[in-house]
Amino acid sequence: MVEPLPHVAIIMDGNGRWAKTRELTRPEGHLAGVDAIKRIVKAAVTRNLPILTLFAFSSENRFRPKAEVNFLFNLMHRYFDENLKELVEEGIYIKIIGETNELPKATLRLIDHVQNVTSDNDKMTLQIAFNYGSQEEIVNAAKSIAADVSENKLSLSDITKETFEAHLRTSGLPSPDLIIRTSGEYRLSNFMLWQAAYAELYFTDVYWPDFNEHELDIALKEYVTRERRFGRISEDNKSHDKEDKGLIAKFSLKKASK
Ligand code: FPP
Repeated sequence: MVEPLPHVAIIMDGNGRWAKTRELTRPEGHLAGVDAIKRIVKAAVTRNLPILTLFAFSSENRFRPKAEVNFLFNLMHRYFDENLKELVEEGIYIKIIGETNELPKATLRLIDHVQNVTSDNDKMTLQIAFNYGSQEEIVNAAKSIAADVSENKLSLSDITKETFEAHLRTSGLPSPDLIIRTSGEYRLSNFMLWQAAYAELYFTDVYWPDFNEHELDIALKEYVTRERRFGRISEDNKSHDKEDKGLIAKFSLKKASK
């Protein structure tokens, strides 16, 4: 496996379609989705991944039928009721990111509790995006920077890429190296738009409830084959520099203006 091990983020998609192909209900699809979450958290720990981020509920998911929204909120509560003890024992630190303004008080208490009891853990970080939308996150960061400037806590020249990142909900954690999306959809759906700048993207047709350790390993294997250049050129290309010098000189601005 490649070193350093990647921060893997997953857009878990396809619970509804998984259920439909089995003539099951959407809630049954989500229940199977939680089983996949349990499997993949365990798999991430055994593979020593430093950070696993899961996109559990988008700010746009709030516009689904009320019954489904309530079901998903209750599922998160149940997941922690049943698994928090084990997550603590495994040394997992849990960070939950998303818009909290409109969340029910019980959910806010749960988020606080989960983050507090895991705060000393350092085996792996499990970042859960819940009621999360990247555009909202970016607007929120801009507002908070603007407030700091108007209160003279920051000057315009202090606003750098790093300052901006420090105001995002993901602050303190590095951006994902690999973003996996299940269910054959090829989009980011308002997930980590800033943080995805240089992430490797991996799409699979597998519906989330069917995603397992084997599927994770296939994605990690694919990630290892990717050459991450971050906008630069690869080492291989550097050796061709000599041959290109003539052409580069011909196109130099100085020559062109003569
Ligand atoms: C995508 O399937 C899945 C979701 C929108 C919800 C995933 C969240 C959970 C299973 C809730 C539990 C959360 C935690 C943290 C345990 P979809 O409904 O969009 O599927 P479809 O596109 O096939 O309809």
